Amino acid sequence: MRNVLTALDVGTSKVCALVAEPAPEGGGATVLGYGVSPCTGLRKGVVVNIEATVEAIRAAVAEAEKTSGVRVGAAVVGEAGAHIRGLNSHGIVAVRGGEVSARDVERVIDAARAVAIPLDRQVLHILPQQFAVDDQEGVRDPVGMAGVRLEARIHIVTAAQSYGQNLTKCCERANLTPLEIVFEPLASAAATLFPEERELGVALLDVGGGTTGIVVFHGGAVMHTAVLPLGGNHLTSDVAAGLRTPLNEAERLKLSYGVATNSVVGRDQTVQVPGVGGREPRVIARRILGEIIEPRMEEIFTMAAREVMRSGVADSLASGLVLVGGSSLLEGTQELAERIFALPVRRGLPINLKGMPEELMKPAYTAAAGLLLHAAGATRATSNGVVWGGRLGRLRSLVSDWMRDFF
Ligand SMILES: Nc1ncnc2c1ncn2[C@@H]1O[C@H](COP(=O)(O)OP(=O)(O)OP(=O)(O)O)[C@@H](O)[C@H]1O
Ligand SMILES: [Mg+2]
Repeated sequence: MRNVLTALDVGTSKVCALVAEPAPEGGGATVLGYGVSPCTGLRKGVVVNIEATVEAIRAAVAEAEKTSGVRVGAAVVGEAGAHIRGLNSHGIVAVRGGEVSARDVERVIDAARAVAIPLDRQVLHILPQQFAVDDQEGVRDPVGMAGVRLEARIHIVTAAQSYGQNLTKCCERANLTPLEIVFEPLASAAATLFPEERELGVALLDVGGGTTGIVVFHGGAVMHTAVLPLGGNHLTSDVAAGLRTPLNEAERLKLSYGVATNSVVGRDQTVQVPGVGGREPRVIARRILGEIIEPRMEEIFTMAAREVMRSGVADSLASGLVLVGGSSLLEGTQELAERIFALPVRRGLPINLKGMPEELMKPAYTAAAGLLLHAAGATRATSNGVVWGGRLGRLRSLVSDWMRDFF
């Protein structure tokens, strides 16, 4: 049977399934086929309607199967949602035999993750930040070093168990086994950031339909993760309410004429707004659209900036801010972000996945591309003898994969 990888991004606006073949040299994958289906089953990144979500997953997977000619049975699945939390932790162990072994590294990570995580939360990722051997800090790979004390700093990403269970249920009903649930902004980061950016310090913002995901890197490691329950859909409903126009028209107006800040709009530009319930269409200044959208976008960016501050490395993000997600396409977004974050801002695309179809080279598909990159690494770990399913085996494979990706 052909060795294929499947990634499934279940977003608030759309479900995207990518089917790919792992690259022979490892680490990457070439997309064989894909499917995208609009999804109405989620609110703010969380499943609220199982039927609608199952239908969207089925449709996206069926399309991906058709275009790739491959039958899909299992996938790496992405999860966003404001219930996801990141926390930093650290642990210390005594080194056995005077030299740090791989086993010591596992022990110290186990010690660091033994923080009180409530029973109703599930650990999604354990991301090592750095190790210290005796007084030597900032060690990335301590194996083989001489010392008596090993210390680890890690970042842990957890999710509310019930939300994850609903997502799993939706996949299973669509005849898809979720191999692993991955935090979506981390996947977006894998698809779009350069290693130098992660090294120098960078914040990634995935501004989607119902959520805004945040990941902050410094020294190659994840320092902070967060999700806000706000995204582009809120801009659309603000436009609908503000202009008293139906949601679908508000969405169309936002996509064609919306701006994140009026500083990019001329005074004489106008827009035609269709009326509701048989009322006449109206012509308004485009800046009115900006006046509705800007405060909400400002709110999203101000809350996100607060999260970036919490990382403790906000003052040393030499590579600035990278914006992905569908809403990053809104005109003026980069200008507004530069003003609020006081950082250089660039837009991100899923550039790190080889063979990504041209049509998907958009900021809304970074998460799907990153899930596939992660699946490619995970497959390699499996062939190295690490088993899926067993709790510890699974944990170790996760640690090693993300270490490889981010260190
Ligand atoms: N050109 C554009 N200008 C402004 N907004 C856009 C544009 N294109 C897409 N969007 C917005 O992007 C949002 C969808 O983005 P995306 O596909 O990244 O979300 P998602 O992954 O489905 O949702 P989430 O990640 O929040 O669960 C929608 O709100 C849509 O209106
Ligand atoms: Mg998304």
